[in-house]
Amino acid sequence: MSEITDTARYIDLVREDNERFFRAEGRRRRYYVDTYGCQQNESDSEILRGLAESMGYEPASDTQEADLIVVNTCAVREHAEMRTLGNVGAMSHIKKKNPDLLIVMTGCMMSEAHMREKIKKSFPYVSGTLDTNSHARLPELVWSFLGDRKRRYYYDENRDVLAETEGLPRVRTNGVKAWLPIMKGCNNFCSYCIVPYVRGREMSRDAGAVLREARELVESGEKEITLLGQNVNSYRGIEGGFPALLRLVNAIPGEFRIRFMTSHPKDAGEELFRAMADCEKIAGNLHLPFQSGSDRILREMNRGYTAAGYLEKLRLARAYRPDLDITSDVIVGFPGETEEDYLATEALVREAGFLSLFTFIYSRREGTRAARIPDDTPEEVIKDRFQRLLRTQDAISREKNEAMVSKTVRVLYDGVTREGDALTARTPGNRLVSVKADPSLVGSFGDVRITSASTWSLTGEPVGTEEH
Ligand code: SAH
Ligand code: SF4
Ligand code: F3S
Repeated sequence: MSEITDTARYIDLVREDNERFFRAEGRRRRYYVDTYGCQQNESDSEILRGLAESMGYEPASDTQEADLIVVNTCAVREHAEMRTLGNVGAMSHIKKKNPDLLIVMTGCMMSEAHMREKIKKSFPYVSGTLDTNSHARLPELVWSFLGDRKRRYYYDENRDVLAETEGLPRVRTNGVKAWLPIMKGCNNFCSYCIVPYVRGREMSRDAGAVLREARELVESGEKEITLLGQNVNSYRGIEGGFPALLRLVNAIPGEFRIRFMTSHPKDAGEELFRAMADCEKIAGNLHLPFQSGSDRILREMNRGYTAAGYLEKLRLARAYRPDLDITSDVIVGFPGETEEDYLATEALVREAGFLSLFTFIYSRREGTRAARIPDDTPEEVIKDRFQRLLRTQDAISREKNEAMVSKTVRVLYDGVTREGDALTARTPGNRLVSVKADPSLVGSFGDVRITSASTWSLTGEPVGTEEH
């Protein structure tokens, strides 16, 4: 029997049990998915929610009222892990109130052996763990728990999660912008990074399945599709690789935007930039993490390019797409980073002209190569470099945003501001614009004139007639 059939069988069994519960209790069991980490995890959580709803659970508005809590974890930095464990710790009192509550932990932390041990020993109210390749086994875990209330730890890095989750329903929460995973895993083994260890080897999703889903998303009214992978440029699901896939997604009729992440500088080349120039639906943003401006550190990081090589890539990308807003990731405080290395990073930031930069302080990850490099840079020195780099980039971001004032741009209205008094919208480069406009515009494109700018965002007003 195939795994998909197993998944379907357990879904049916749990669904029947949930129906019995409903008849006896007069309410349906509820689920809550708590998501940490990157877009890949957000996308995985859509499958987890889809599985929960197929099993007959209703969404809960918070963990307090849930009968099933799935915690989808991230292992990329120690801070993320600590925060997650703290929040899971706080769930013990929910379990005390409701002994039938099933708490499942999944995601990247659950692919780390020492973390599974920790959960086993110190978090007795967590009743099951699933690694990222075993998501399709959630119904089996739930069914077994409903039967005997025993704890179970599923870990099998060799499962083909792409095949096992293909075709499972997703519960997307946005309605305007959709994640579309095109691959899983990572083969790059950057020396600081845990992802290749917790996500396993790279595998590309079948191009036919990707295109089918993209078409369905457009037909169902989604206005932005982000193709997802740890390194989309090594997509192998079609001849011609990622640029060929982009061209096919671009050929789907309708007004929608295409985005993708993440690109690795060693694999992003002229074919990609040419496709970006030819495809009108590919929005003008490129996220291209550089990690460090020091060639010595880049070598130690196993990144496969130099600072000059990186900047040359940016020049080439902008030659093909002059409208590009480029964003990036950088790590400060890699083991053994000297002031000179740091200054090389700062110099690269000044030259690159990023719209924005995600700046991370290096976090030692057990099992990675960098974890073995001696590290004696004092914490205050690293924090000081971090602040200096933030200041450097903030000035550039502000300048880039101020240059937009009085220009007219096409935006996608994608939501309402937190204060509720304006709409949020995104430029092709993915800059955030707040616009006072009718909430019925959410989910449509419109032209906006930029009236003011700050470091992080823009303000604008609608021009001309809006289209729905
Ligand atoms: N696959 C993507 C994303 C990886 S995780 C990529 O290659 O860009 C996102 C970012 O987290 C990375 O780009 C890196 O800047 C940062 N990061 C990864 N491991 C880290 C670590 N051990 N400490 C600090 N930052 C880290
Ligand atoms: Fe980590 Fe490097 Fe893979 Fe990105 S490309 S996930 S930074 S190993
Ligand atoms: Fe975190 Fe896993 Fe993503 S470690 S950054 S959730 S791939």
